[in-house]
Amino acid sequence: MTDEMLELARSNAAQAGVDNVEFLKGYLENIPLADETVDVVISNCVINLSGDTPRVIREAARALRPGGRFAVSDVIADPDTDDDTRADMAAWTGCIAGALTDAEFRSALEDAGFEEIEIRETHRVHEHAGAAIIRARKPVPTMNGAACTLDAAERAAQLERYRALARHTADVEHEPGRVIVRFFDDPPTDLLERTLEVEHGCCPFFDIEYEPVDRRLVIAVEDPDRNRDLDAIAHTLAQSRTTGSLAVGEEPAAPGQAVTSCCSSTVLESCCEPHAKEDCCGDVTIEPPSRCGCQ
Ligand SMILES: C[S@@+](CC[C@H](N)C(=O)[O-])C[C@H]1O[C@@H](n2cnc3c(N)ncnc32)[C@H](O)[C@@H]1O
Repeated sequence: MTDEMLELARSNAAQAGVDNVEFLKGYLENIPLADETVDVVISNCVINLSGDTPRVIREAARALRPGGRFAVSDVIADPDTDDDTRADMAAWTGCIAGALTDAEFRSALEDAGFEEIEIRETHRVHEHAGAAIIRARKPVPTMNGAACTLDAAERAAQLERYRALARHTADVEHEPGRVIVRFFDDPPTDLLERTLEVEHGCCPFFDIEYEPVDRRLVIAVEDPDRNRDLDAIAHTLAQSRTTGSLAVGEEPAAPGQAVTSCCSSTVLESCCEPHAKEDCCGDVTIEPPSRCGCQ
């Protein structure tokens, strides 16, 4: 990518009046974005140009949030592709040399931790290669049942309790071995007590305490193997908080929709972030830790 290409892209965006797009200079093998900050990775006929496709795919996985999607269009080489054929394909199409076969692409995605992998050829671009749409998803961490006495249904119920707690959550601080959850109001006592009771009963590897004065829930693990379980809880709380975890049947507030119950969980915090606040929240001010100006 050249500076001229970037300049052209920026001036095209300006001419089109598009102001919610940012162009960054960088390489596929070293994406200039922080970990877990992206919802979707797209590209068209670029990945096969890299000399290190598995690394590109690992970079995509790194930048994606859990649950994020990888959806690219690229060239897929037929399984029998040898070096001469690759050189010929490169000459014909201008972009093939690094093209992987279906199996190679699939295993690079699997190695990077992707799930729900789908590779669908759309049309032939060469005697020995086709264009394909490649989709995959970065998995959301799930609770590891191994040392936990809950069965699958009980674990799902416990995750549902965390989702309900997330509706009272102002922020989630997550560091290796410890998660600190701060509530902006008092979560229902029975919900909190039941959550702690189940946690203490099933998963003794969690050191979990609620500090009512600070409205803080502190969950810690000593065993690094248990970090995955901690990740699952932190993820559930953070994700449900920012996407507005809703009870069954409740509809999320949409941009433009009048919000009358700001202090209830029907408000999506993401919807009420500063840029969209006026759209979805009228004149209500959303300020953590209370989140709602109407308190
Ligand atoms: C075939 S063009 C596709 C461009 C565009 N996606 C489209 O559909 O028109 C490939 C583009 O990938 C860029 N590219 C090649 N290798 C790259 C790399 N390692 N990192 C970032 N960009 C790269 C090239 O500069 C070029 O702009």
